[in-house]
Amino acid sequence: MAEHAVPLAEPTIPEGTAMLALQRLNDAAGLVAAADLALERGLLGLLAPGPMDVGALAVAAGLDPKPCEVLVRQLQLAGAVARTPDGRVAARVDEPGLRYTLRRWRTLPRVVDGGPPEPTAHLYPTLTPVLADWMLPSHRVVARTVGRAGMHLLDLGGGMSPVGQLVVEAHPDARVTVVDRPEVLRVLADRLDSRADRFSLLAGDLLVDPLPADADVVLLSGVLHLFDDDDVLRILRRAVRATVDGGTVAVAEPLLREDGEIDETITAYEIGLHLRHPQGGIWPYSRLAGWFARAGLSDIHRLALPGAGSLVLGTVGRPATDRT
Ligand SMILES: C[S@@+](CC[C@H](N)C(=O)[O-])C[C@H]1O[C@@H](n2cnc3c(N)ncnc32)[C@H](O)[C@@H]1O
Repeated sequence: MAEHAVPLAEPTIPEGTAMLALQRLNDAAGLVAAADLALERGLLGLLAPGPMDVGALAVAAGLDPKPCEVLVRQLQLAGAVARTPDGRVAARVDEPGLRYTLRRWRTLPRVVDGGPPEPTAHLYPTLTPVLADWMLPSHRVVARTVGRAGMHLLDLGGGMSPVGQLVVEAHPDARVTVVDRPEVLRVLADRLDSRADRFSLLAGDLLVDPLPADADVVLLSGVLHLFDDDDVLRILRRAVRATVDGGTVAVAEPLLREDGEIDETITAYEIGLHLRHPQGGIWPYSRLAGWFARAGLSDIHRLALPGAGSLVLGTVGRPATDRT
């Protein structure tokens, strides 16, 4: 008898039910438990030299073939390993990366009780180049929005100054001042090409160290969320003082929804942010716009950026429309 393929209906658990909530938590916990175990049994270390047959991997890890297959499939689900066309298992992430990603969550109980987070400043020299590439579509929109010929852009906590680099590429007579930690600026200095003469690198603390006072645009891209509310206002006031009359302060950040509803990407990001920078946070647009107004900015508005971010802009001094 001929077999007929019967299309299977998607087994869906209705939204808003306890069963769906538990199912999601169960899936997430299962993924983490499997990744933790794979780490403990050294699976990713074994795969570091190159792809392996799953049977050979099981033997090398001291696992029975069946649980090894199950663990490998969970790692596949997470994207941590992939199958080669001939069915072998290839690592997509390295062991130190996975260990760091999983172990960092162990500090959450300490952090929520007011204890110190793990220090992160030492990560920025390696993290900021990755961030710059990862967020490129968003940086392009920011650069197009704020960039113009002959401008002076002050990029506070600029990292690799991805927006500054795009602005100078489009407007070779623009100038960029980047303020960041010296160890980050050393990496930036190595990456700047023939346009290095358009950049001034100011090593220091953006909260306290002197800033230029002639910026046409001050940019804070992915920076304000690191600071507590008082410091956010303090930094915005410093940004205003660093900007010429009629200039712009621009903040690129992921923002919470106004209605209190959950945005998946931003909410996932928020808990990681709390783990690393419990003093910082993310806010809805109305809260940030309130700080903009208190810092003396006018014509405050917001643009959506590719990905999960928003660009919030405000004008220093009299709005352009009031000037003759
Ligand atoms: C998330 S990164 C964003 C980098 C860059 N703006 C971008 O969009 O790719 C935050 C940057 O702020 C810098 N930073 C944090 N606190 C700072 C401070 N107090 N003074 C100067 N830079 C600071 C970090 O070193 C890091 O380069």
